[in-house]
Amino acid sequence: MLVRAVDQVNKAAVEMCGITKRFQVSGRGLRRRPPVEKLALDHVSLEVATGEITGVLGANGSGKSTLIRVLATLLTPDEGKASVFGYDVVRQAAAVRRHINRVSVEAAFFKEMSPWENILYAARLYGSGGAGTRTRVEAVLDRLELPRETLDRPMKQLSRGQQQKVAIARSFLTSPSLLLMDEPTTGLDPRSRREVQDLVNVVRAERAATVLLSTHDLAEAEALCDRVVILDEGRVLAEGTPQDLCREYATDGQPATLEDVFLRVSGKRLEEDVEEEEAGS
Ligand SMILES: Nc1ncnc2c1ncn2[C@@H]1O[C@H](COP(=O)(O)OP(=O)(O)O)[C@@H](O)[C@H]1O
Ligand SMILES: [Mg+2]
Repeated sequence: MLVRAVDQVNKAAVEMCGITKRFQVSGRGLRRRPPVEKLALDHVSLEVATGEITGVLGANGSGKSTLIRVLATLLTPDEGKASVFGYDVVRQAAAVRRHINRVSVEAAFFKEMSPWENILYAARLYGSGGAGTRTRVEAVLDRLELPRETLDRPMKQLSRGQQQKVAIARSFLTSPSLLLMDEPTTGLDPRSRREVQDLVNVVRAERAATVLLSTHDLAEAEALCDRVVILDEGRVLAEGTPQDLCREYATDGQPATLEDVFLRVSGKRLEEDVEEEEAGS
C-alpha cells in the first residue's frame, strides 16, 4: 500500500494515452442522409504536470471541450486511457470527480437559485461550507469585481460574464486539486477577462493547484500557461512551453511567435473572434 501511495504522489496530474472520441452526427439536408461519424479526439496523448498551468490551444471545433469533458468523466472515451492523479477516468470516475472542478461557459447552475446558494450547495458536496464560507466567497467575488448584491439574486438574472465569475468562485471554494477551465475568458469583456486571468495567476502563485485550461486566444495561452498543447481537428500537433515552441519554430534566428507556431503546425490561422476584440467592447 505504501508503494502505491508513493506512486500516486509521483504521478502526473493528468495522463492521457491514445484517447479517441467519436460522435454520430445525424445527416442533414432535404433527403435525410445516413449519420456520419465525427472524430472529435483522434488518439490524443498528453501529460499535465502537477502544479502547472497547461493550456489546450485550438480553434472552435478542434476538440478542446471534448477533451475536458473526458477528464471530467462526463464523456466516455471510445479508445485509450486517461487518468487524473492516477485514477482512471472510466473505472474510478468517482475518485476522479473528487479531485477536479470544471469551470465552463455552460456551467451547471440552479438558475432559479442565487450564486450564494449555488456555491454553498457545491461546497457542501465537497465537504466544506461551514463558518467563514460566506466571507471567503465575498473575498473572491470582490477580487473579480462582482458586485456584492448579485450574490443573492437569482442566477438567471446575471450576465454571462457574471455567471462565469461565480463558476470560478465556486471552483476556488471547493479546493480541487485539478481545475479544468474550458475557455474561462471567452465571452467576457476585456476587463473581466483580465480579472479572470489575474485570478488564474493567483491560483498558481498561492494555491499550487494544477490547472488545465482551454483557449483559442494565443495571447492568453502565452500569458498564463507553463505549457501549451496545440490541438487541431482532434489531434495534438505540438506541445511544450511557449518559449520552447517559439524557439523550435524560429526562422532565420528570429524566434517565432505562438501565432507563427500555430500557423506552421496546423497550416492555418487561429481565427480571431471579432466580437472579443478589445476595441469591440
Ligand atoms: N455531443 C456531440 N455530438 C456531436 N458532435 C459533437 C458533440 N460534441 C462535440 N461534437 C463535435 O466534436 C468536435 C469537437 O467539438 P468540441 O470538443 O466542442 O470543440 P471545441 O471545444 O474545441 O470547440 C466538433 O466538430 C463538434 O461539432
Ligand atoms: Mg469548446
